[in-house]
Amino acid sequence: MIESLINTVIQGDCLDVMKSMPDKCVDLVLTDPPYGLGERLSRGAGKHKNSRMRLDYENGSQWDEKPDERYFNEMYRISKNQIIWGGNYFSMPPTRGIIVWDKKQMMPTFSQIEYAWSSFDRPAKMYSQRTIDEKEVRCHPTQKPINLMIWILQNYSEQGMTIFDPFAGSGTTAIACLETGRNYILVEKEPDYVEIINKRISTWKEQGKLFPAHVI
Ligand SMILES: C[S@@+](CC[C@H](N)C(=O)[O-])C[C@H]1O[C@@H](n2cnc3c(N)ncnc32)[C@H](O)[C@@H]1O
Repeated sequence: MIESLINTVIQGDCLDVMKSMPDKCVDLVLTDPPYGLGERLSRGAGKHKNSRMRLDYENGSQWDEKPDERYFNEMYRISKNQIIWGGNYFSMPPTRGIIVWDKKQMMPTFSQIEYAWSSFDRPAKMYSQRTIDEKEVRCHPTQKPINLMIWILQNYSEQGMTIFDPFAGSGTTAIACLETGRNYILVEKEPDYVEIINKRISTWKEQGKLFPAHVI
């Protein structure tokens, strides 16, 4: 029933998409929902030279609306496991298997880690990398490093599995899936980001592993 969605990017509200999906039909939800920090992000707007990024920061509230429990209930229903960034911003069940991204941040006023809640009953794990790689084009204010997402897929999923990202942003999850032989289904509500995702995917397909997969 979800075969037609495999390896596609859907533009729309992920709640509507998830409601149409059967129980436990994807292996893993790997996602980074908006944390509702729009107001705080908008204060950083002036610092960005890139006009697209400045616009995104200024319009933070458009894409940064925090999802309510209906979205979480649907994510739990349609998937066998879940890894959800921003676990400290949402009301999640107790878990052993948290994932920490150590951002190697030297500035004491910036956050030194980010934290993902996971449904996996296993010891907590940590990945260390300083922000996104300089070879990666920054196209979303909260873009995750491609190597972080690859590391997660290698540690928490297997080749051929289907990974669902309902809050896709710039599509880092899709590129990590392509790099590691997983199937993806992505949903993103902002048409501009859907365009960016499709561009990243087609660049990856043209260039393959010979080139940095994350450059657009
Ligand atoms: C935190 S960002 C994800 C960034 C992503 N990790 C990346 O590497 O680019 C969350 C994204 O979810 C999208 N979004 C917010 N609410 C949504 C909804 N109800 N349905 C689909 N997408 C939504 C926003 O437009 C935003 O691009």
